[in-house]
Amino acid sequence: MNIGILCATREELEPLLERLENKNTQRRLHRDFTTGEYAGLTVTAVMGGVGKVNAAVTTQELIQGFGAEKIIFTGVAGGLDDTLRVGDVVIGAEILHHDLDMTLMENGQFPGMPTDFFRGDPELLDLCRGLGENLRFGRIATGETFVTARERDGIIRRFHPQCVDMESAAAAQVCWFFGVPLLVIRSLSDNADQEAEATYAENLSHASVSALGVVFRVLEALGRKNAG
Ligand code: ADE
Repeated sequence: MNIGILCATREELEPLLERLENKNTQRRLHRDFTTGEYAGLTVTAVMGGVGKVNAAVTTQELIQGFGAEKIIFTGVAGGLDDTLRVGDVVIGAEILHHDLDMTLMENGQFPGMPTDFFRGDPELLDLCRGLGENLRFGRIATGETFVTARERDGIIRRFHPQCVDMESAAAAQVCWFFGVPLLVIRSLSDNADQEAEATYAENLSHASVSALGVVFRVLEALGRKNAG
């Protein structure tokens, strides 16, 4: 089984690359796609860069160019739920764009969008529930903005997400186009508040490793399922 794994930054990817065996890297679309093996699975891992277009084009290349049958988006996010702490892991049950301007949209739907929000793949969500780890299954909101105190309350009021990032909804939309299952695994690097920039810088590496810890457990469970 081929699994595509993507993230936005180098810190979010490197600990994963260290664990892949029999690696081979191809440069396409100005980025490095590394294919290797983990838990009996073929995994292609790539740093797609920050933002929605980067996420979309990289997800499409994983699917069409590398034959990924499932996509995992891993990395960090800004927390918007007071019951969550930096380092906690949120699994994307629902994933939406928080920065689409809905003015003039007649039926409350954005053209080309199937629904108000995308869903994480039910089988992959179940697999995560079976890991027995302390995970939060929640709503992730994506926009082209690093969210701080200025945007925080408005996003909470309109969308009630557990966290914000800058890529997941774009990857979810591309996966929806292709009918490919998606799992988003995000660890909180900051609280999207007035201290977010400093907190993000301080916690990026540590939170990335928290999210990847769950990615490894998911791959191991998928590997067992695939073998059985
Ligand atoms: N990723 C990590 N922290 C974030 C924030 N505060 N806003 C958007 N994306 C993020």
